[in-house]
Amino acid sequence: MNVLVVGSGAREHAITWKLSQSPSVGQLYVAPGNAGTQAIARNIPIGSEDIPTLIDFVSSNQIDLTVVGPEAPLAMGIVDSFTDAGLLVFGPSMAAARMESSKAFAKTLMADCSVPTAASETFADYEDARAFLDTCPLPIVVKADGLAAGKGVTVAQTREQAQEAIRASMLDRQFGDAGDSVVIEECMVGQEVSVFAFVDGDYISPMVAACDYKRVGDGDSGPNTGGMGSFSPPLPQHWNAEMESHVRANIMEPVVSGLLEMGCPYRGVLYLGMMLTSEGPKVLEFNCRLGDPETQVILPRLKSDLAEVMLATARGELHSTEIEWDDRACVGVVAASGGYPAAYCTGYPIKGITKVDYDAIVFHAGTKLLDGAVVSDGGRVLTVAAMGESLDEARNHAYEGIRHITFKDAFYRTDIASFEHSSS
Ligand code: AMP
Ligand code: GLY
Repeated sequence: MNVLVVGSGAREHAITWKLSQSPSVGQLYVAPGNAGTQAIARNIPIGSEDIPTLIDFVSSNQIDLTVVGPEAPLAMGIVDSFTDAGLLVFGPSMAAARMESSKAFAKTLMADCSVPTAASETFADYEDARAFLDTCPLPIVVKADGLAAGKGVTVAQTREQAQEAIRASMLDRQFGDAGDSVVIEECMVGQEVSVFAFVDGDYISPMVAACDYKRVGDGDSGPNTGGMGSFSPPLPQHWNAEMESHVRANIMEPVVSGLLEMGCPYRGVLYLGMMLTSEGPKVLEFNCRLGDPETQVILPRLKSDLAEVMLATARGELHSTEIEWDDRACVGVVAASGGYPAAYCTGYPIKGITKVDYDAIVFHAGTKLLDGAVVSDGGRVLTVAAMGESLDEARNHAYEGIRHITFKDAFYRTDIASFEHSSS
């Protein structure tokens, strides 16, 4: 089958890399892709949110399956438009994608299904939100209801910070429509774990979990980013068979059945952001797609054929498809442009990619080809991921690999999957 992957990050490079290993995949396209996807597939210069042009391309190029990486086109209804056009697509419908595109929707569904999550209230009126904040214990979490490119959450330590967050969202409309409503919720404390499953409407695949590093600097210092590295599986005290069956029975199954009963069956990858609190695992958020940088460390652990899994998910036939995860560990380290997550420069030649040996894989994110050379083209530039018999071995391979990569002002965290000095 011919397959189109929509998106341009390291997540999409990892998806394309895994699909390219499938014997059932013929021509592989990526829209718009990056320099990494260009080496293993054909990049097509169509933006990931240009749904009509994507449909034209897929219709006229005998593409059998389209795989959507990022959340924005899913929230815009790309799956509904493709389905209406008679095209097979991997990802949730617009209604099911509300699990990510509306935090208020996700909260209501969780309350209806008795899924453990932080206590919260949703407000569409600024004065009501402001008055409510006066009564809240600190710290308190303020979230824009809609998609805000990872910037919509404020964990406020003071009432002033919380007031500022609702003002920026509801009055200054920093996130546009996405911030017209806010969710104000209890601050939870604990270890965060991201959990992923393929879901075909009602069947939930064996799950896989990963941890990511959101802060820019070593020791979790500095501002939040899209993610500076990740590892999978989490430490055994945080993720094990018992935890997996608990999360399946108390979170995944009720939510998937709830969506089915509401008439919006969930098809695609369901991503559960979870906090392991002293009262047990609670939901931080749901996402309607694979995570970035988690994908770069979970797909190398997928022993099954990703194309078959995605096809079966899109067709609602996942129960008859084998999905197996490798027991070995994988660690991914992100190399970013100096200045990220604030302003940074791009266009710098990236050296050393071919020196990274077979133990590690380089997944490109913000890169492009310029006169035949790979140059930086974004904040997060690439992820170097590596497998190992243990997390230590995987981490050593990943750092051994990233050492070879150089570009002007590049930096990366040096403590990904490193636990000697942390309390985890
Ligand atoms: P989200 O976009 O919902 O994943 O939130 C981004 C990050 O904010 C999460 O990964 C957590 O680190 C933090 N966060 C979100 N909600 C809460 C909460 N209720 N309590 C503590 N931290 C939170
Ligand atoms: N790793 C966080 C995300 O993909 O949203």
